[in-house]
Amino acid sequence: MIQSVRGTKDILPDSIAKWHFVESIFRKVSAIYAYKELRTPIFEKTEVFCRSIGEQTDIVNKEMYTFNDKGGDSITLRPEMTAALVRSFIQNNLATANSVQKLWYYGPFFRYERPQKGRLRQFHQYGAECLGSPYPESDVEIIMLADSICKTLGIANYKLMLNSLGNAFSRERYKTALLHFLHKIKNELSDDSKIRAKTNPLRVLDSKDEKDIKLLENAPVLIDYFDEDSNDHFLHVQNLLKENQIPFEISSKLVRGLDYYSHTVFEFRNDYLGSQDAFGGGGRYDGLVEQLGGKHYPAIGFALGVERIIIILESLGMFAESIENTDVYIAPLGNEALPLASAAAQTLRQMELVTVTDLNRRSLKAQMREANKLNCRFSIIIGENEIKHRTFIIKRMSDGEQFEVTLNDLKQFDFTQ
Ligand code: HAM
Repeated sequence: MIQSVRGTKDILPDSIAKWHFVESIFRKVSAIYAYKELRTPIFEKTEVFCRSIGEQTDIVNKEMYTFNDKGGDSITLRPEMTAALVRSFIQNNLATANSVQKLWYYGPFFRYERPQKGRLRQFHQYGAECLGSPYPESDVEIIMLADSICKTLGIANYKLMLNSLGNAFSRERYKTALLHFLHKIKNELSDDSKIRAKTNPLRVLDSKDEKDIKLLENAPVLIDYFDEDSNDHFLHVQNLLKENQIPFEISSKLVRGLDYYSHTVFEFRNDYLGSQDAFGGGGRYDGLVEQLGGKHYPAIGFALGVERIIIILESLGMFAESIENTDVYIAPLGNEALPLASAAAQTLRQMELVTVTDLNRRSLKAQMREANKLNCRFSIIIGENEIKHRTFIIKRMSDGEQFEVTLNDLKQFDFTQ
């Protein structure tokens, strides 16, 4: 038997209702915030991601599905959307003077990670990006959109972790101090952190290693190196969040795993996820449009992991057993009844009734068993008599009451009774 690729999952008919539910909320809440959907190809030129996410990040270094196509071009299955969206934004001239572009997306993404609960190699994200405003109002609007999605989905018990990476000037000043500190403890750090200290020192702060965490307790704090611009922005975001009654926790070591961020960064966490406790994250990326060849265009956005959201909703008992919703079951008796059965099914489907008819020439008993299993509201048996008189007996399954109608009157029959 050929198995699916490790870290990928089929979404089976039994669980598709969960996906439809979360997708409908993404659509609905995005529309309320006046965000428009953007779809891009699932693969991009590799440089789209290398030039934006950062050569020294785990995503680019270890996790990308990259291959040469038959023409020799290096192609990558998208590991995230922000870079691809910015590529599309520049290419399609979506930037116009003094305008803000508000976009959302949903779809599959690919990262070669070690699979575990809530961590897959093909996973899904919903995300939103607000491009064109440097102001804290847009940070807070984006966070409130994410918060509204969570609340509408029914997730109330999550934590919003907030930090600011400041502007490039503040970050450079901080990096010098951090490097000085890391140099002092370099021999005690984990192997991963030793490498990061050289390639991407800020990421050392994000280490999950117990010993590193202890060692980093006395590390210099980014916020202490902020200039006025970085400070003002961060304070303004916090004040607006408070005014909107969005609780948050400041996490001074939250740096995120992608290099394009500046100023505000945030994550949404929930205890049900175990070690994979962030089900969403985002931040401001003021330099990215320019970095990928566009004009200076400040922006902020976030993405939520859909598999992780579904795990949380399941643990909250949010999904009731999905009940099959079939309106009418048509049971033909014998081969002569097949044409009339299919004509009746066609009429009912044109009336937008969910109609099932037997396709396996089974006995009446087997067909009625299926009608019961499908929870049909009505059944119609088509036998010799029905063929001769072109009339039907419609049986209401809840109480067994029967109604006689002709084929011509079938359209007028009230199936809501
Ligand atoms: P990210 O934190 O890498 O951010 O991913 C966002 C979310 O995607 C995570 O919080 C998680 O729920 C989900 N996710 C990531 N990797 C996996 C995986 N292997 N399996 C299952 N779920 C996963 C970004 O992708 C940024 N583009 C977010 C952003 C948008 N920043 C600004 N705009």
